[in-house]
Amino acid sequence: MIYQIYPRSFMDSNADGTGDLPGINSRLEYLEWLGVDAIWISPIYPSPMADFGYDVSNYTDIDPLFGTLSDFDSLVQTAHAHDMRVILDYVPNHSSDQHPWFVASRAGRDDARRDWYLWHEPGADGAPPNNWLSSFGGSAWEWDPASAQYYYHAYLKQQPDLNWRNPEVQAAMYDVLRFWFNRGVDGFRIDALRQVIKDAEFRDNPPDPNWNPGRDPYRRLLPLHSADQPELMDIVHRFREVAEEYPERVLIGELWLTIERLVAYYGREGRGLHLPFNFHLILTPWQAPAISALIDTYEAALPPKAWPNWVLGNHDRSRVATRVGAAQARVAAMLLLTLRGTPTLYNGDEIGMHDVPIPAHLVQDPFEKNVPGIGVGRDPERTPMQWTAGPGAGFTAGMPWLPLADDYREVNVERQRGDPKSMLTLHRRLIELRRRTAALSVGGYAPVYNDDDLLVYERQADDMRVRVALNLSHAARTIPWSEPKSTVMLSTHLDRDGEVGEQLDLRADEGLVLTMP
Ligand code: GLC
Repeated sequence: MIYQIYPRSFMDSNADGTGDLPGINSRLEYLEWLGVDAIWISPIYPSPMADFGYDVSNYTDIDPLFGTLSDFDSLVQTAHAHDMRVILDYVPNHSSDQHPWFVASRAGRDDARRDWYLWHEPGADGAPPNNWLSSFGGSAWEWDPASAQYYYHAYLKQQPDLNWRNPEVQAAMYDVLRFWFNRGVDGFRIDALRQVIKDAEFRDNPPDPNWNPGRDPYRRLLPLHSADQPELMDIVHRFREVAEEYPERVLIGELWLTIERLVAYYGREGRGLHLPFNFHLILTPWQAPAISALIDTYEAALPPKAWPNWVLGNHDRSRVATRVGAAQARVAAMLLLTLRGTPTLYNGDEIGMHDVPIPAHLVQDPFEKNVPGIGVGRDPERTPMQWTAGPGAGFTAGMPWLPLADDYREVNVERQRGDPKSMLTLHRRLIELRRRTAALSVGGYAPVYNDDDLLVYERQADDMRVRVALNLSHAARTIPWSEPKSTVMLSTHLDRDGEVGEQLDLRADEGLVLTMP
């Protein structure tokens, strides 16, 4: 199980209102107790923080806000001592505009680093070179009056895209991976991977016929020529080769793609990513037929030997408790932790944190600032972790960088740790069950039954069969149960065990894990 830490919001050790590495270190005991196998930490590199760390100004150091390289080394050491792996975020698509590479590149057309970024002559009448859009609003091209050229930025203008067709850029960025591998890092989550290589001719993107005004303006065009290009696979192969220079390292890719395109990034014969992140549980409506079809489609699409994975939430999307509601969030946790493949859990989802509405004057996210008022902002899912009912929710002794949720006195780790029926206890018990049950951790998957509200599937390994029955509705439901003598191992309500007879009664919003005779 991978646990995503958004470092600004996880644990603050020095009362500056922002989380840091010593803070994470102080909470490793909790993560071990929860049953986490690996932590993935969103960017902690030096950064002007235009995009809160996803604008990197030095790929091989730690931002003072988060601590020092020695804090980082001690975090890795402690995590390893507790049998947890450490995965870092790697941001190859773009650097910060403050990175010395870009500062040099911008200095003039003749600079040796000019070609490290994507500079282009203006189109007709001085217009941008093509119609490509920034993911965070507006054109993806920024005019540089001094050199009379545009540069390309798939995200903010403070995040210029690196030119991955330049071999020097490639070499420098592969060395970044080695720098951290040499420090003991167990793997990387590769940011914005689908954008890394663009069409060599920079052709215009076509309009998306399904877009309508009021939706995210970036989606007006289909990123046909600006993402998921055929040449990207060559880069992925090289990432894999670098990872293979070290024993047991993992590569995970951030890829918002259709299932068909997503699974291509496993590559042939194990030459691609270990885990192309599968975000489809975030994208699919929370309805049994849709979820069931998703699992079938994904399982069928996986290439031979590819290991599946599922993600339920992250720092870019509305939290699961908000998307599906508090009651169904328990069912969603059971789904995530009983499907075949590596689950990724976003910090705070294990206690049922919800999106926190952010008043306009406190907005931090540049996406919300650029494209205000249509709900694209990501601050609501990035609010501080709720550790205790005390001041600052136990997250900080200072003023938190984003407001705390109003319910932190009730919804917090300390309280839920002591409550045998809490959301946190449910997560811990599911993780523990998954770890000790081969059918759940490494077994096969087979669909058993679904209708409009129910989803039933089986996991099996060796002689053991485990069934998972999920009620995605707010009403009690009964399933004819042809298998007497099955036994309840776990209910999302945490109040039930024992044998099941000729029918299985599921209460509203209940999920069950059962062993089969
Ligand atoms: C990814 C990150 C997101 C960031 C963007 C630009 O989508 O998850 O948080 O803003 O890349 O780096």
